[in-house]
Amino acid sequence: MHSFFTLLRAILLVTVTSVSASSFFSVPLTKFAPPNSYLVGLPDADRARAAVLKSFTCGGPKTVLASNLAYVQYTTSVGVGSPPTYYNLVVDTGSSNTFVGTGTPYVKTSTSIFTHEKVNITYDTGYFRGLEYLDRVTLAPGLVITNQSIGDALSYADFGGVDGIIGVGPVGLTEGSLSTNVNELVPTVMDNALSQGLITKEILGISFAPATSYNDTNGALTYGGIDSSLYTGEITYIPVTTTFPASAFWGINVTHATYGSATTVIPKSIAGIVDTGTSLIILADDFFESYMNAIPGAKLNKTAGLMYIPETSVSKIQPLNFTIGGTVFTLDAAAQLIPIGENAAWGLPTNEQYGVVTHMGLHSGAGLDFVIGQKFMEKYYAVFDTDNNRVGLAYTKHTFTT
Ligand SMILES: *[C@@H]1O[C@H](CO)[C@@H](O)[C@H](O)[C@H]1NC(C)=O
Ligand SMILES: *[C@@H]1O[C@H](CO)[C@@H](O)[C@H](O)[C@H]1NC(C)=O
Ligand SMILES: *[C@@H]1O[C@H](CO)[C@@H](O)[C@H](O)[C@H]1NC(C)=O
Ligand SMILES: *[C@@H]1O[C@H](CO)[C@@H](O)[C@H](O)[C@H]1NC(C)=O
Repeated sequence: MHSFFTLLRAILLVTVTSVSASSFFSVPLTKFAPPNSYLVGLPDADRARAAVLKSFTCGGPKTVLASNLAYVQYTTSVGVGSPPTYYNLVVDTGSSNTFVGTGTPYVKTSTSIFTHEKVNITYDTGYFRGLEYLDRVTLAPGLVITNQSIGDALSYADFGGVDGIIGVGPVGLTEGSLSTNVNELVPTVMDNALSQGLITKEILGISFAPATSYNDTNGALTYGGIDSSLYTGEITYIPVTTTFPASAFWGINVTHATYGSATTVIPKSIAGIVDTGTSLIILADDFFESYMNAIPGAKLNKTAGLMYIPETSVSKIQPLNFTIGGTVFTLDAAAQLIPIGENAAWGLPTNEQYGVVTHMGLHSGAGLDFVIGQKFMEKYYAVFDTDNNRVGLAYTKHTFTT
């Protein structure tokens, strides 16, 4: 299994230098069994649950729960059809088509209308091919989209343990996915929720948190707005970058990054993307090497695609600070490490420490030189604001928890 449903397909494949990026978003992981969701009584889960309950009493934005599954991806339950069948879909801000069928087969009902189109998408790891339907999609009670274009995956690879993807990236990423009209854009669930008046703002608020179990329902998605109980302080908003290809995604510029007080990791303003469908934090090779070289004895395990950190260096890890939109977002030592108890799920030796920051396989300068993935968002609240073409980031109560 992996990590990264990031859809660099349309974009990176046209930029020669970036083609090889695809190989390295993949971290080989052991396949996992189908998830069985359960709630744990921890503060983050409680906050997420409280937000859900609140959102159904006051109207407006709607919050639903999301699960940190196998430590490498977030899923949320989405209903399709009438009566709805519920599917556990990967929450992916790095792609924009929604489809089901890779686990639980698509159950067609009277609301399922075949569009006579084929759909075909290749992700960094994995792909699906199938047929496109219009159907009723239930994101939350009271948030039921009609006429949503969705895929029925008939052949696919690398979607173990999940039923498909809910694509909440920019609509432009859907171009080329349908057979009949390759220039056709497929309105996303967010686009349709807005156009059907189910939400009044095309804004998605995402709260992730470090998992304390294999399938930890500690996350929350707010469709149509943000939930102020899920972050602390102010939200820093960053305009979507104009630098291609990051600009096709939820792309932003990081203006500077440092490790400890002595090492510059990112020396100047550089474009990259914020992607829930990527598990790790990925840096262009030159930035990554500056970081790795500052940690004595750290080295890249090329098989794992992850950085090994000797035990003697673990206790000396310094903050990794990203300056974004004028605010410093810091990753403390815990935020830079894969908890050793998760190693088996990552396919790693169980007695060695690895980091969550890894290399891209490309030198910087490609217009997409970092990926702020799930591990970063487990520490910070994120806002994907289509109305204002910007991304928001904020500190949370668990930014510094170990
Ligand atoms: C349903 O959506 C399709 C494409 O997404 C569009 O062509 C069609 O007009 C829509 N039908 C209705 C009734 O909104
Ligand atoms: C990194 O961020 C932390 C937390 O905000 C701060 O204490 C530290 O001084 C920062 N380090 C640098 C070099 O800016
Ligand atoms: C964003 O980064 C790119 C390099 O990736 C740079 O060319 C561009 O000027 C930066 N934009 C801003 C607003 O700093
Ligand atoms: C590198 O990671 C692989 C798992 O991906 C593991 O089997 C191997 O032992 C690791 N190598 C070292 C030197 O730790």
